Amino acid sequence: MEAPREEWRSKAGFILAAAGSAIGLGNIWRFPYMTGENGGAAFVLIYIFFVIFIGFTIMLAELTIGRHSQRNAVGAFEAIFPKTNWRFIGVLGIITGIGILSFYGVVAGWTLGYFFKTLLGDFSHLSGEKAAQDIFVGFIRNPVSEIVYLFVFIALTVFIVSGGVSEGIERWTKILMPFLFLLLVLLVIRALTLGSGVSEGLSFYLKPNFSALKPEIFILALGQALFSLSLGMGAMITYGSYISKRENLISSAGYVVFFDTLIALLAGLAIFPALFAMGMTPKGGPGLVFLVLPSIFEKMPFGIVFGACFFLLLSIAALTSTISLLEVAVAYFIDERHWSRVKAAVLTGIVVFVVGVPSALSQGASKWFDRIPLVHMPFLDFMNALFGNYALTIGSFFISIFVGWKWGIAAASKEIELGAEKFSLRPIWAFSVRFFAPLAILIILIYLIVTGRFF
Ligand code: TRP
Repeated sequence: MEAPREEWRSKAGFILAAAGSAIGLGNIWRFPYMTGENGGAAFVLIYIFFVIFIGFTIMLAELTIGRHSQRNAVGAFEAIFPKTNWRFIGVLGIITGIGILSFYGVVAGWTLGYFFKTLLGDFSHLSGEKAAQDIFVGFIRNPVSEIVYLFVFIALTVFIVSGGVSEGIERWTKILMPFLFLLLVLLVIRALTLGSGVSEGLSFYLKPNFSALKPEIFILALGQALFSLSLGMGAMITYGSYISKRENLISSAGYVVFFDTLIALLAGLAIFPALFAMGMTPKGGPGLVFLVLPSIFEKMPFGIVFGACFFLLLSIAALTSTISLLEVAVAYFIDERHWSRVKAAVLTGIVVFVVGVPSALSQGASKWFDRIPLVHMPFLDFMNALFGNYALTIGSFFISIFVGWKWGIAAASKEIELGAEKFSLRPIWAFSVRFFAPLAILIILIYLIVTGRFF
């Protein structure tokens, strides 16, 4: 007789852990710079639309597959339809998780580095944007600190995942998430009271200007929604497998989607008013947080405190996300290969670290990796596009096809209804899982192929 499967201790524990997975660099670093680069409020509106109509749909689909099968991302498909190729969705998910973790760990390492830099006063005498840029570029091109920070971040992730589901993940996120939320609210209050420029920032962020709308915005907004909600690679299948049969999957999915979106919107609310108050441009690109924020904090009273808190907050958010990325592979090795949790976490962590080294060295530290042949981009950007974008989109497509057409709405609904009194959203969800989500994703992929914008 096998030991009963680990379970989240409570509904709040699950929601905090899953929200912790979803909330990360995607919300606080990626969402604001994508919004800044793509015209502000119009991008935000389309992003929210995809979160509601595709994000929620796939979130519920993944949680249902996980809870029904009580297995990892590969085993779940095997349990529902043994000896079919559907399990390769899970295999793709494990590879994707390792791929995302390898570059995500590098950027997460930057946030950790910026926490210490801010605390040590590195940014206290900045003279304008140029000085901030010099510090950033100098930091990311140092091979030693790049690799050390990557190592430290992966080691932290391995340490927490080794502790197990309820002992490790649940306990840590329970402490970390409310803290994160509190810090963000403080930051928003600070940003909104900065004086002139704030209203300009607010109207950029909240008043849509549809005349600047480009077709790419739809693609970028959908990709951002999937990435931010941790969908498309079995992270939510894995987390769903630890939910008790008594819990309500519909409201659980709803809470996770709501909190993730709330944090992203709050991050934008902290960043844009501050940006405009400092007279800077929202088109800072991927360096936005690292280039512009230190200058903003420097010109604020108690800037060192706010700055250090912000980068600590980013590191915490990233850590609760890297935990879920590692857990997908770890759960597979525990369930299917009968490894111990510690062995699975340590060995996978070593692989992630090794795969991550080229990304860590691709930002100017080594000329081998800063321009990959054929795609002409740094190794980190390549991994981001390949795993953080395409693999997730393809994974989400197959997950919706699996639930909508293979497993079926009736069987999935039966699982959903176990812990829910009624499933009144069923017709809408069924339509989205079967038609809307897969078609929208397909259209986007075809658009990318036809216009040759893959990399
Ligand atoms: N959602 C996280 C973020 O916004 C990143 C993340 C964690 C993720 N687990 C994932 C993305 C699984 C895709 C799939 O930062």
